[in-house]
Amino acid sequence: MKFNPDLVTIAGNWKMNGHIDTSVDVEKLINLINGDDANIILFPPYTLISQFVHISKNSILSIGGQDCHHKDSGAFTGSISAPMLHDAGADFVIIGHSEVRALHGKGSGNIMNKTQSAHENDLITIICVGEDREVRLQGEHYNFISKQLEDSVPRTSNRNNTIIAYEPIWAIGTGNTATTADIKEMHAHINNTLQDFDMFKKGNPSILYGGSVNPKNAGQILSINNVNGVLVGGSSLDHLQFNEIIKSK
Ligand code: PGA
Repeated sequence: MKFNPDLVTIAGNWKMNGHIDTSVDVEKLINLINGDDANIILFPPYTLISQFVHISKNSILSIGGQDCHHKDSGAFTGSISAPMLHDAGADFVIIGHSEVRALHGKGSGNIMNKTQSAHENDLITIICVGEDREVRLQGEHYNFISKQLEDSVPRTSNRNNTIIAYEPIWAIGTGNTATTADIKEMHAHINNTLQDFDMFKKGNPSILYGGSVNPKNAGQILSINNVNGVLVGGSSLDHLQFNEIIKSK
């Protein structure tokens, strides 16, 4: 099974980092995590997907892409499609990371179409939502996240092919992790909002927290109600730190 929504999910987003020789660290990570009872996923840059899929075969580590285009193929220079990720052996894809949303303007745009294309190509999606500091200071964060969810989650979603990641933009890469109270309240809000979606009648998807998660705060964050895992950026680049986060579940 590629993904079990009843288990904790620990995902590492490498962003624009990593070279062929980092494969050695991934092999070391695999040795440390084999036998763990969790969904463990790495999202390396596109250039390393095939290589990491190859070395993680027969292990519990899964591999995903950091984004995909909503079309299958065509004149879209620089883009990668869902069928291409599937072809490279990826099982997961992150859709709507704030760093990607920022490149395409503030709106959710075609996030829903990308997610649908991913599902049609047998990929499990992590759909990211998160408000910036301005929205939070205006007290609009709950409405903002509800709207992002409505605009991003397609009819093809269900608990087995969709994961939601709450990543407040002000917490990403800043060291300003959201407080336990902030995370608890927003995850409860997301959980309640998703309960009203027809596609989740049979059960809500996992909800991950992301934003300056590290080995010191991971245990506390993972113990919060409605937090079913974490999406880790910077601290996933070092295999020992990432393993510590996995072990703190
Ligand atoms: P960070 O990134 O852990 O470095 O804050 C998280 C993310 O962008 O997914």
